[in-house]
Amino acid sequence: MSSKVLKIDNLHVAIAGKEILKGVNLTIRQGEVHALMGPNGSGKSTLSYALMGHPNYEVSEGSVTLDGREMLELEPDERAKAGLFLAFQYPTSIPGVTVANFLRHAVTNVRNPERKEGEDLISMRDFRKEMRERMDELGMDPEFARRYLNEGFSGGEKKRAEVLQLSMLQPAFAVLDETDSGLDIDAVRIVAEGVNKVAARVSTGVLVITHYKRILDYIKPGFVHILYGGRIVESGGPELVDLLEKEGYDWVREKYPEAARDEDEMEQHAAAGQLAH
Ligand SMILES: Nc1ncnc2c1ncn2[C@@H]1O[C@H](COP(=O)(O)OP(=O)(O)O)[C@@H](O)[C@H]1O
Ligand SMILES: [Mg+2]
Repeated sequence: MSSKVLKIDNLHVAIAGKEILKGVNLTIRQGEVHALMGPNGSGKSTLSYALMGHPNYEVSEGSVTLDGREMLELEPDERAKAGLFLAFQYPTSIPGVTVANFLRHAVTNVRNPERKEGEDLISMRDFRKEMRERMDELGMDPEFARRYLNEGFSGGEKKRAEVLQLSMLQPAFAVLDETDSGLDIDAVRIVAEGVNKVAARVSTGVLVITHYKRILDYIKPGFVHILYGGRIVESGGPELVDLLEKEGYDWVREKYPEAARDEDEMEQHAAAGQLAH
């Protein structure tokens, strides 16, 4: 099987005219699990939104290629069709659309990129069979598929719905932004185990974005990167997770004074923004 490559090269991203990412470089191959760690406000979510093409995130420089194809020129749905999946930190609810219905549309669009709005969806029979298998693999109650997407879902249920989506879409690359936030430890374990199963089955390349160690006890990264002041200052193996857990970011600040200055500046900017709201 050929292994695809996701390459982020010198990525600069601004929000509301303010530069947040200042040249991010990161290469992920299919089947690899990478963790991106960094303090609050270091730009982690900015990276995931920019990867997906959120209109508020302005890319001023750099490129993101999937097997050589530029992603930054594509609309968000085209990026999904190209094999990029993003689980948001704060998923929105879609009242009136069931989990099953949502998934059937999403799966059809990703598998049949040429489909026009209004054309046939994948057959209900095949879809249901596949969805049941996938829910079974994840230990999910089949009734869950009948509920309205994210409406009244607990934090854990939202994340499980996303893992089910991941499982059905089988993307080449998945970016999971703070998938552990707001979950109790059992929910973190269940979600992480689901991600592991899916990643192993379809050889997805995974980027886990987090500032807590705990999800990384279950989704074991082979590669760990530290985002600080809007760039990746350190890359290494799992030992970096323990180092951050034990020592915090003081040594990062000392080693990378320029990044530390930018990190402080972003923090002040964030504080000022909060006052203005
Ligand atoms: N919509 C926005 N408008 C203005 N500034 C923003 C917006 N979203 C994020 N920021 C700023 O961008 C910086 C990085 O935020 P974010 O990427 O969410 O960090 P992280 O996910 O690492 O906590 C912060 O300084 C934050 O205040
Ligand atoms: Mg974030």
